[in-house]
Amino acid sequence: MTDVKVAIIYYSSTGTVDAMARHAAAMAEKGGAVVRLRQVAELAPDSAIQANEDWAEHVEETKDEPDAAVDDLTWADVVLLGTPTRFGNVASQLKQYLDGLGPEWQNGELANKVYAGFTSTKTAHGGHESTLLALYNTVIHFGGILVAPGYTDPVKFEEGNPYGVSNTETGTDDGVADAARDALEHLVARTMSVASALRSGGFAA
Ligand SMILES: Cc1cc2nc3c(=O)[nH]c(=O)nc-3n(C[C@H](O)[C@H](O)[C@H](O)COP(=O)(O)O)c2cc1C
Repeated sequence: MTDVKVAIIYYSSTGTVDAMARHAAAMAEKGGAVVRLRQVAELAPDSAIQANEDWAEHVEETKDEPDAAVDDLTWADVVLLGTPTRFGNVASQLKQYLDGLGPEWQNGELANKVYAGFTSTKTAHGGHESTLLALYNTVIHFGGILVAPGYTDPVKFEEGNPYGVSNTETGTDDGVADAARDALEHLVARTMSVASALRSGGFAA
């Protein structure tokens, strides 16, 4: 699976999805991938950001990192999309990034890649599945190869989400549950394995 190109493209306000994204990146690197970890551009007004200490801190911590560019997605074999839930839906910042990909969609540059998603919520039934399903509407329109984890590993019975990976914020430092971390490792390995098999099998349709 060496040299599989993995792009982790995500949005995070207060750092939880960011921690999930960084863990996924570390797992992909461990598996031999070339990784691009990219947060999409922030769209919220500064007044909203500064009114929330955790949000302001996260923006400050990541201010020197490059925003996700179009090329980060078109470059990749595997695209992992991460978003916190927003009323059971995809965060507008990630949606804005995806909605900017019309020309690449038209050129067929978004199709035939492996895609999967991850999310985080505040509450246990706060929109894990609806957020991922909403995200996947876009992936389907891309002609993406959606790789669901299902229950293909014992960790999925711990973390509990066959649609992708999801986390309910814990009270720990970065808010990510151990089961979500393990499920991310599994999702990364599974998506890389599918991408690698497609490549070695000559898939190009
Ligand atoms: C406007 C808004 C809407 C949200 N909607 C939900 C929701 O529907 N269900 C839920 O459980 N959490 C909801 N949350 C909480 C976040 O999705 C949750 O805290 C997430 O883990 C934050 O991720 P982040 O730290 O990466 O920003 C909402 C937060 C905001 C600011």
